[in-house]
Amino acid sequence: MKITIIGAGNMARGIATRALAGGHTVTITAKDPGKAVQLADELCEQADADGRVGAADDEAAVDQTDIVVLAVPFEAARQLAASYGPRLGGKVLIDISNPVDATLDALVVAPGTSAAEQVAEAGGPQVRVVKAFNTTFANTLVDGQVNGTPLDVFIAGDDQSAREEVADLVASGGLNPVDVGALGHARQLEGFQLLHMALQFRAGGHGWASMIKIVTP
Ligand SMILES: NC(=O)c1ccc[n+]([C@@H]2O[C@H](COP(=O)([O-])OP(=O)(O)OC[C@H]3O[C@@H](n4cnc5c(N)ncnc54)[C@H](OP(=O)(O)O)[C@@H]3O)[C@@H](O)[C@H]2O)c1
Repeated sequence: MKITIIGAGNMARGIATRALAGGHTVTITAKDPGKAVQLADELCEQADADGRVGAADDEAAVDQTDIVVLAVPFEAARQLAASYGPRLGGKVLIDISNPVDATLDALVVAPGTSAAEQVAEAGGPQVRVVKAFNTTFANTLVDGQVNGTPLDVFIAGDDQSAREEVADLVASGGLNPVDVGALGHARQLEGFQLLHMALQFRAGGHGWASMIKIVTP
C-alpha cells in the first residue's frame, strides 16, 4: 500500500518505521518541507527501505496514496481533515491524536464525542476515518514491541473495509491489530490513553516505554 504521513515528528517516525517494515511505500509531508526531507532521509538510512520512502508536498502526497495518517496535534488534524476532505474520497484517513490537556488531567473534547469523530465531521462523509495508533508511544512503535511482545494497535472506524485495511497495515509491520468496532469507540481509546500518559508521571513512571495490551487466555 501507499501510505502518506502528514507530520514529521515522533509518531511520523514510528508509524513510518512499521509501515516500511511491512513492505509499504511511505511519503512524508509536513508544513516545513525541510523536516519532511530530513525524516525521509533518516528513514531511508535506518530501514531496509529500498527507495520506498520519500518526501513530497501535501497535495501530491495526498492525491497519490491509499492511506493518509495525520501525525499532528488534534487541532491541526481537524483543520487538515477539513482542507483535504474533498480530495480524500475513498481513501482511509487515520487519526492518531490524543486530545489531552497540558496537565494530563482531562480530555479537551467534550463528553459524548472524540477527536476522531470531530476529525471525521471535519473531513466529510466521503472520508473513511479510522482511529488507530493513539495508544502506542512513538518509541515503542520504532521497536514494534515491549519486552519482546508485539504492540496492540486498537482500531475504530465506521467503515469495516477501512478498519481491515488499517489492520493489514498494522499486522504487516509486526504489530497486533485489535478491531474495536465503530468510530464512537475512539472515546474510550482516547480516555484509555489519557490514563496511560498520566501514568508516565505516577506509579513510578514508565519512561514512555509502556504499552496497553489485551492478554487473552
Ligand atoms: N508521541 C507519542 O508517543 C504519541 C502517541 C500516540 C499518539 N500521539 C499523537 O500523535 C500526534 C503527533 O504527536 P508527535 O509526538 O509525533 O508530535 P511531534 O513530534 O511534536 O510532531 C508533530 C508534528 O506535527 C506538526 N504540526 C504541528 N502543528 C501543525 C499544524 N498546525 N499544521 C501542520 N502540522 C503541524 C509538527 O510540525 P513542526 O515540527 O514543524 O511544528 C510536527 O511535524 C499527536 O496528535 C499526539 O497526540 C503521540
